[in-house]
Amino acid sequence: MNVPDIIIAVDGFSATGKSTFAKMVAKEFDFLYLDSGAMYRGVTLYAMENGMIAEDGTIDEKALQAVIEGLDLHFQNDDESTKLYLGDRCVETEIRTLAVSSHVSPVSAIPFVRNYVDKRLRAFSEGGRVIMDGRDIGTTVFPNAELKVFMVADEQVRAQRRYDEMVAKGDTPVFEDIVKNLAERDYIDSHRETSPLRQPEDAYVMDNTHMTLHEELVWCLGVIQGKFGILEAPSLSW
Ligand code: DC
Repeated sequence: MNVPDIIIAVDGFSATGKSTFAKMVAKEFDFLYLDSGAMYRGVTLYAMENGMIAEDGTIDEKALQAVIEGLDLHFQNDDESTKLYLGDRCVETEIRTLAVSSHVSPVSAIPFVRNYVDKRLRAFSEGGRVIMDGRDIGTTVFPNAELKVFMVADEQVRAQRRYDEMVAKGDTPVFEDIVKNLAERDYIDSHRETSPLRQPEDAYVMDNTHMTLHEELVWCLGVIQGKFGILEAPSLSW
């Protein structure tokens, strides 16, 4: 099926399966996938490694603000997937630890951090045919995105998915810590002053609590067909 060169914005709470969904759609329709959360995680990792986040979580905003515009965070395509680089160092693994997860929401609430990330995300998306996931893609980064998806899922199911993901990577997480971390991030992400997480009015809402990945893809195809008036019979690669 011929999908036009559009921007697809995917937003939702943590661990609702946004990146899995977005990567799958990107692969199916040959779109560039960009993970905006990775950029916030990259800034957080940099701040942690450079002593800008104290034990109690206090962020040295002055120090971070002084260096942020010179921070070389970018995406690079390796082995068919897009990975985050800090300078010439791939930081894809380091940015996914629970330590980074527990500091990333307050870092991402800082207006100058959001401004830096927004600028970079827009630059990486020039030319379109991009699917990007995050919290404010359809509201702030690309308010004119041609297609907006807002993903929701049951809290326990979300925590279980994150838990399984970490175990698969060889971590030994405590389930209750993940539940707590998700609840804290949900709260901070949706209550911050700058670009809080909220459902765009013109978004299609997907509750994937009981959906398989294949069902998500079929759902997306149906939305695209309906929205762009595509009559061609759908054919999926799987
Ligand atoms: O999607 P994620 O869990 O990797 O995102 C990490 C954090 O970054 C999340 O707690 C909120 C923040 N974030 C944001 O504020 N805006 C975005 N567009 C993407 C992520």
